[in-house]
Amino acid sequence: MAIEGTAQVRHKAWLALEDHYAKIGKTEMKHLFAQDPQRGERFTLQANGLLLDYSKNRITDETLKLLFDLAEAAGLKAATEAMFTGKKINITENRAVLHVALRAPKGESIVVDGEDVVPQVHAVLDKMSGFADKVRSGEWKGATGKRIRNVVNIGIGGSDLGPVMAYEALKHYSQRDMVFRFVSNVDGTDFVEAVQDLHAEETLFLVASKTFTTQETMTNAHSARDWFLSKGGEEAGIAKHFVAISTNENEVAKFGIDTANMFGFWDWVGGRYSMDSAIGLSTMLAIGPENFRAMLAGFHKMDVHFRTAPLAQNMPVLLALLTVWYTDHFDAQTVAILPYEQYLKRFPAYLQQLTMESNGKHVTLEGKHVDTQTGPIYWGEPGTNGQHSFYQLIHQGTRLIPCDFIGFFKSLNPLGRHHDMLIANVFAQAEALAFGKTAEQVKAEGTADALVPHRVFEGNRPSNTILADELTPEVLGMLVALYEHNVFTQGVIWNINSFDQWGVELGKVLATKILGELEDKDQPDLKHDTSTNHLITLYRSKK
Ligand code: F6P
Repeated sequence: MAIEGTAQVRHKAWLALEDHYAKIGKTEMKHLFAQDPQRGERFTLQANGLLLDYSKNRITDETLKLLFDLAEAAGLKAATEAMFTGKKINITENRAVLHVALRAPKGESIVVDGEDVVPQVHAVLDKMSGFADKVRSGEWKGATGKRIRNVVNIGIGGSDLGPVMAYEALKHYSQRDMVFRFVSNVDGTDFVEAVQDLHAEETLFLVASKTFTTQETMTNAHSARDWFLSKGGEEAGIAKHFVAISTNENEVAKFGIDTANMFGFWDWVGGRYSMDSAIGLSTMLAIGPENFRAMLAGFHKMDVHFRTAPLAQNMPVLLALLTVWYTDHFDAQTVAILPYEQYLKRFPAYLQQLTMESNGKHVTLEGKHVDTQTGPIYWGEPGTNGQHSFYQLIHQGTRLIPCDFIGFFKSLNPLGRHHDMLIANVFAQAEALAFGKTAEQVKAEGTADALVPHRVFEGNRPSNTILADELTPEVLGMLVALYEHNVFTQGVIWNINSFDQWGVELGKVLATKILGELEDKDQPDLKHDTSTNHLITLYRSKK
């Protein structure tokens, strides 16, 4: 769907920002703080228990005004409504984009192709809850009458990263007498290591794939089936040990999984937006249906906030506009995600697919080459580990790396002074990045002249600090939705389609062709470039 707001209005808003950047681009944050004693509080936003301090950014009130003008010129409001009301905004696949329907409360109505999808969502949720209760309580038995102790999720991309991240994030709430494993890579090592200490009689495989045709997942699923049979399982027992999560009933049946044991979702759920659909079955099995629904409630709270809050008080919008500001005006190439919470250790990896598969696009909705930079590279590691590896470059390197710090007021595992230390580090890093240390300060500490330049911190490096009380299922839902809508807003500003992923196709096609060539040495002439031909020949000779 073309976004409302003419190209000219958008262009004017860009130009205004360019002019503004020319004026304030080099302004130092320390001066902005000195000029406004209220800045720290004024540039802090709270919504539903999440707090965003965005004061340590290279912005003024005028910057924000111009960024909001840009969002308006880009038609953000209309685009948001189009998404929430089920319009087919994924124009290259002619699909609605309705992950928000996955967390819509019962009684709401969202109509796609003449059908209200909310009752369907709740029917699947109820089916998942019934199944999860049975497995968790031991009522669901394996083929030999043993209860299920191990759950292995087989999926890749959105059918893996969300489930892994959520399992790790919410481990505190999980059923500890059950083992959860995740297999994604087509590298056989992933599967072999995941099952090497498991008893087949007590193991349940969740085959998670939107399409049920993804090479890696289907290969792993077939290996899982062979493993089950090789460990004494029988064909008739497969129904007790394999369930499918997919939109593709035909392929599920073809694989041999009883479609009664299939949990469905819909083409309007993008893979990277699916952790709160049936793809989250492993999460529900781990934390239970009640906690899963609390997570959905958190997603929904952020959805309502994003849809209704004015731009200036809208958390996802603020994060997105700041990213656009740095990406397109400061030439920042990356955003660092730095959770100071061990349970969020897979959050940066999860966000990589969400952000980069969504906004790694080089053409506009109209198919023209973009004339700005689009999606930045997202990366990160949990604190404080990163401080002892890559933070050096963030503090003193030559690149500008906007950072999102994420922390919690309370620890789920209070232990002596650990939490105070952890949070002291969050605040210290953000302060050091923003304000640095001048040569005068370094000299005043008695540093030898020759060392002074090495010990100077230029500062003026931007960061956001996102805080919540503690990591609960609801807060995790809010955090994920915060970034989902952040990504959406960036996509609207850049006028790109955040919901397709054609960039993954070419590699898949070539890999299928090359696989045939690796397996069949008798294939005549290789017709790739000389480098690829040479590599194939070498591999064949070593096999
Ligand atoms: O890599 C492309 C992709 O289509 C992702 O968008 C998706 O999350 C992943 O593959 C897995 O797809 P599926 O769930 O259909 O197996």
